[in-house]
Amino acid sequence: MKKLLTLLLLFNLSTAFGKWTTIRNGILWTDTDGNTVQAHAPGFVYLDGRWYMVGEDRANAFHPDVNLYSSPDLVNWKFERKIIQNGVTTPRLGRSRMIERAKLLYNEATQKFVVWCHYESGNYAASEAACFESDSIAGTYRLIWSGRPMGIKSRDCNVFQDTDGTTYFVSTTEENQHLGLFLLSEDYHETVAHTQLLPYQRREAPVIVHVGERYFMFSSACTGWAPNQCKVCHSNSLTQGWSPLENIGDETAFRTQAAAILTIRGTKQTTYLYVGDRWMDPTLPESKIIIFPITFQDDQCQFHYCEQFDIDFRTGRWRITK
Ligand code: GAL
Repeated sequence: MKKLLTLLLLFNLSTAFGKWTTIRNGILWTDTDGNTVQAHAPGFVYLDGRWYMVGEDRANAFHPDVNLYSSPDLVNWKFERKIIQNGVTTPRLGRSRMIERAKLLYNEATQKFVVWCHYESGNYAASEAACFESDSIAGTYRLIWSGRPMGIKSRDCNVFQDTDGTTYFVSTTEENQHLGLFLLSEDYHETVAHTQLLPYQRREAPVIVHVGERYFMFSSACTGWAPNQCKVCHSNSLTQGWSPLENIGDETAFRTQAAAILTIRGTKQTTYLYVGDRWMDPTLPESKIIIFPITFQDDQCQFHYCEQFDIDFRTGRWRITK
């Protein structure tokens, strides 16, 4: 009887307080096989209770492949497979290209998985993007297209899937001068419309998130691997009305460059997590992935950088512990 009561109490406590997952920053992640996680400048898709993460495999430093991992909690990462093997998945140009900032999308209409990335030559002159597709998330990805989206020179990039299903490729355009918002075709194979954003502001590493009525966009200046001030702007429309850029966080974005913002819709609250790269820490393959909560209030937002925090993925609650 006593045992039963203790069990009931424990059960109630765990449902009342949820289950905390601890996320530590600044450490090199290892996967469930004990290998170093190689998924820099990551992109994410949440599917059937798992986070899928694609990113640059920098083990070969300058000619990255693209790896896919999955995790129930952003901490325990299972290596799924190398989904793009530089020079093999892309035979025409051999290993001459750098595949950077691979981002993953699930297309509900075609039920296919699509990767968009920066597909660059050694001196960054090509200024191209590429698109790959697979029937299953960890399946065989094939090259669909590579080139300059709508003929526009394109470098650092991301993708953005809006709540109404419209999906965009967003990239730094025309020799790093502007950002380009490119609407994707229904099958996500092509860019079909272009809107120039933040003209002459020279921003890169763009990340867009939709919070309530507003879109927020985060970006960095173009200083290579060296971190710089993250800036944010907001608008009620993706194509117009973006506010002036404002500083957010400290002057180096806590030694990171933005890669993604994850939205955790919990039973008690929606929590947003900033994901960034701490490049060259101290070498390129040892660059760290950093995660911390970010909050939004009206048209303002705040970074809550910390060395360690707990998150309850069920309720969405989080607390900084270090
Ligand atoms: C950064 C960019 C990275 C990578 C790097 C190379 O500015 O965000 O994705 O291209 O430059 O120096």
